[in-house]
Formats: sequence, C-alpha cells, structure tokens
Amino acid sequence: MSDQLSSSSAPLECMRNILELLPEIAAAGDERELGRAIHRRVSDILDAERVTLFLFDHRLLELRTPYHEQANPDDLIVNLRMGLAGYTAILKQAVMISDAKTEYFFNGELDAITDFNTERVLAVPIVDANAMAVGVVQLLNKTTGAFDQTDLDQAEATAIRLAEQASQDRWDVSTVREELDHLIEATRSKRGSVYRNDFEHGRLISVYASGLGETNIKLNLRLGIAGTVAISGQSLRIEDVVNDPRFDNSFDRRTGFKTRSLVAVALKGAKGELIGVIEAVNKRGGGFTREDQELLESLAKPVALMIEDRQLLHEQEAQFESLLRVLAASIDAKDTLTAGHSEGVANYSVAIARQLGFSDEDVDVVRVAALLHDYGKIGVEDSVLKKPGKLDDDEYAKIQRHASLTRGILDKIKFSRKYRYVPKIAAAHHETLDGSGYADGLHDNEIPYFAKIIAVADVFEALTADRHYREAMPVAKAQSILEQGAGIKYDSVIVSALGKHLETMAPGT
Ligand SMILES: [Fe+2]
Repeated sequence: MSDQLSSSSAPLECMRNILELLPEIAAAGDERELGRAIHRRVSDILDAERVTLFLFDHRLLELRTPYHEQANPDDLIVNLRMGLAGYTAILKQAVMISDAKTEYFFNGELDAITDFNTERVLAVPIVDANAMAVGVVQLLNKTTGAFDQTDLDQAEATAIRLAEQASQDRWDVSTVREELDHLIEATRSKRGSVYRNDFEHGRLISVYASGLGETNIKLNLRLGIAGTVAISGQSLRIEDVVNDPRFDNSFDRRTGFKTRSLVAVALKGAKGELIGVIEAVNKRGGGFTREDQELLESLAKPVALMIEDRQLLHEQEAQFESLLRVLAASIDAKDTLTAGHSEGVANYSVAIARQLGFSDEDVDVVRVAALLHDYGKIGVEDSVLKKPGKLDDDEYAKIQRHASLTRGILDKIKFSRKYRYVPKIAAAHHETLDGSGYADGLHDNEIPYFAKIIAVADVFEALTADRHYREAMPVAKAQSILEQGAGIKYDSVIVSALGKHLETMAPGT
C-alpha cells in the first residue's frame, strides 16, 4: 500500500510543478526571472542537474540564455547564421532555392569576400554509410533559371559517388574537382563547391571550390546541441554527449562542468515559429528516458505559448512607445522654437505624479498624455505658431485652438484601455481652476487631475527651458509665478509637489 502511494506521488508532484510553472512564467517580470523559474521547476520535474532556457533572437539569429546558474549568459550565445551549406550538413537535407538573400540561413559573408552575388542555390549533403553527413556539394546560380528536380538528382548522384570515395579526412582533390566540374556543366551552374565536414572542430572546409581554386573556405558550424535542435525543430536525447559530433564542449572546458546526458526540445509558437530551446542536462542516477523526453515535449508546448504571448505584449508596448516618440518628435519638427518641450513636460509630469505617490500605471498615463499634450499644434498655421512678436486677438485665438485640436486628433487614435482618458487629459492642459482657461473653460473639479499636473509641468517647462531665442528664467522665479497662481489657476498640492521634486533634484539652484 505504501509502495503504491509513493509511486503515484511522483507524477502528482510533477503535475503540481507543471501547474505552478505556468503562473510563474506569466508573472516573471523579465527574461532572467523567466529563465530562473524554468530552470528551477524543470530541474525538479526531470531530476536534472541543470536546465537551460534558450530564447531565439529573430533579429540576430541567435539563441540566448536569459539566465544561467553557473555562467555568464553572454558566454552561451549560439549563432545560427551558419549559411545554407551548414544547414544542409547539419540537417542532412538538400536545399534548393531561387532567392538566397531572403532565406533565413543564408550567410552573405562569403559573397562579400569573394565579390559574388548568390541568388540560386542547390546544396546536397554527402552522407556516408554510417548516415553521417561527411560533406556538402553546393551549386550556385544556375544560368538558365531555377534549379529543378533533374539538377537535384544529378547533384545527389555526385554526392553518392563522393561519399563512396571520401573517407572522413582523406579526400582526393583531383577526383572531387573532376566530379564537380562535370556537375557544374551538367546543371549549367555558375559556381560550385564541395565541403567536407570537420567534425572535430565543428566546421565545413572546402575541398574544392570552382573559381576559388583550393582556397580553404571554412564555415563554422558550432551550433552545439541547442542550435541543432533549434534549426531542426526535432528533439534530441543523447546518452553520451561528449562523443556526439554536434556537441560543443567549449562551455564545459571553460566552466569545468561535465555534461553527460542531455535532452533538448524546441519551443514553438502558435504558428510553429521557433521561440527557443529547453535543454536539460545530466539526469541524476542515469540517462534521460523516452518518458523524460515526452514530458519535456508536453511541457514545452504551454511554456512556448506563454513566452510567445509575453513577447507579443512586449512588442506591442515597444511599438506604441515608438509611435509616441514619432508623434512627439513631429510636434517638435512643426514648432522648432519649442523643440524638446513635449519631452520636458512629460519628464516634469512624471516627477510630480511620482512625488504625489501615484502608481506606476497612473504615472505612465500622465507621461503619455504629457508627451502628446500639444499635438494639436500640428493643425495651427506656421505664420501664427512661429510669429516672433506679440499676437493679436485673432492670432491668439488660433493658437488656443491647439488644445481642442489635440482632443480631435487623439480621439481618432485607438488607445488601449489603460490610456483611454489620454485625449481628454491632454486636451485639458490649458484649463485653470478658476475657469479662465481653454479650450472649454472648465472649473476645478471638472478638470481631470492628471491635466492639472500637466498644466503645472507645462508652465514650468516653458518658463525655465533654455531656448535659442531667449534665456531661461531662473527656477526660483518660475516657481514663484506658479505659487502666485496656486489655488487660483493651479492646484496648490501639485505646485508644492513640483517644489519638493525640485528640492530633491538640485539643491541650491
Ligand atoms: Fe499647450
């Protein structure tokens, strides 16, 4: 009975770990926390010495570890740009494409060095009797159009002959050359090359390359296990890692860690895109089993989807932020006399809101509204906006229109729920407590509180900023102007919050 209990508690424990991991991922503030949560939970679930999360960086084509127990994560970056020949060798798969530059794995470095423009590529692996890819035959730029099945058949026939002749480190260059020249002619290719796989150093070395002679071109394939899983999308479970040619031992050498057994699974998003790789190393008391691999695979699905969700959210935020910057910059471009004003008002508004103890979320709303408060200036004609001297009544009325224009324009932006009051707040930045302001002549409690903050920040920034056409007013004088208006035009609590902020900033100025 007790036996039964203990054997059934293991999967229960495991299930509990999985259930606890998901909210931890959702709550993780940054990628480091995410990496740590996965390390801790998955180590427990799989009884592994180490678990590493690699995240795929689409821009740099790299796998990165946000967190690592024993090492600096920067030491563990896996570069996946090993070129199409490398892709062919590692996946033991032929590649036939007509526009290399748009291909994910294309590496343009060689083109740059050899002054060549690769467009069409046909690459086939040379696979030996032990099913190892010992090399690659590659053809470039068929002169009469795209490579086709006939070309592929011929290249594969050549690869089979070369595999028979080539043992791992003894290649007969003249045979290779003869075979390749024949193939280039038969397929009407512009160039061709044969690489051999240097397993020991994890690279491809050219045996012969037409047009380049016997120059030894070396293509680095140091992908390690995680990189191989990433590019193939296939899980790997290896009992004797050290003797696996895909294993990159540089990390073990540096850290003294001894990798023995390993299981690695690709993380894929909702549409199958690569999100990253989870790798578990050294199962305690033996190697990883097929059940371990299946467990990690089933865990990888929800984990990948949650990470993808987080990433999408971050991308949306970054996109919104860059949109904000562009909008703020476009006001500055329109009104060059007050360039930097929006940014300055946003900074003061944020400082005041913090001083008043608002939450980060609220502070962010103030910041966004402050950045956009003068956006309506975009609709005010230049001759009025940039008029150097005094404005007549008509011109002043035109300037004042910017507040309601701000409202009109911002109302058209589809703000997320958090920012839904931004247009209203931004448009009320010239309202004053006594109702003498514009655009709507609102009174004290009709004015959104955040608009009152922006109003104070706006006046203070305008008075104290150093503009090219006039000198900045001393801070103390600007403060006394605001204090005179406190309770009449400006909220006195806000004015004193600005004062407190200025005290903490630069005592004595
Ligand atoms: Fe304004």
